[in-house]
Amino acid sequence: MDTQEHRRRLVLLLRMAYSGELAAALAYSGHWRSLKDPEERATVQKIEREELEHRATVGEMLKALDEKPQVWRECMMWMIGRTVSISCFVIGYFLPMYFAGKLEHANVMEYEGAAEHASHLGLERFIPELHHMSATEREHEVFFSSKALNHPLLPLVKAIFRWDPHEVMAIDSSKS
Ligand SMILES: [Fe+2]
Ligand SMILES: [Fe+2]
Repeated sequence: MDTQEHRRRLVLLLRMAYSGELAAALAYSGHWRSLKDPEERATVQKIEREELEHRATVGEMLKALDEKPQVWRECMMWMIGRTVSISCFVIGYFLPMYFAGKLEHANVMEYEGAAEHASHLGLERFIPELHHMSATEREHEVFFSSKALNHPLLPLVKAIFRWDPHEVMAIDSSKS
């Protein structure tokens, strides 16, 4: 892959992440409000704040590259975030936890991929922050996965959406 392609892919990942973080923060703002358990509410609220911090960091990276977020992606992600936020109040406990875990899993990979492109481009100052954001997304993934285990709907949802929170927990416990 040449330098131009690494740059193109990095910018794409950053734009996806920038708008994705907006959707995530909006979704979590509804998610924590829909929860009853005070500890869970506080954790999801903290995750919402961390997504907004990520968005600010990614925004700075785009600026440093002299690139801008995509307006259409911002609009689309705003709508998705708001829709999910409202739906958290009607679809029960399990599905928001499951899909949040699945989304966080994708975020972990996204920031790792961005770090790899940054390293090819010699953008050393981006790399620690990208790894740090990936690690935070991993913590989010583990939290949401731990809440989606052992639900009667899990076998069906897992078969359709091909993501298993048990695997996340197994990897996490093998690390600690
Ligand atoms: Fe994030
Ligand atoms: Fe996250």
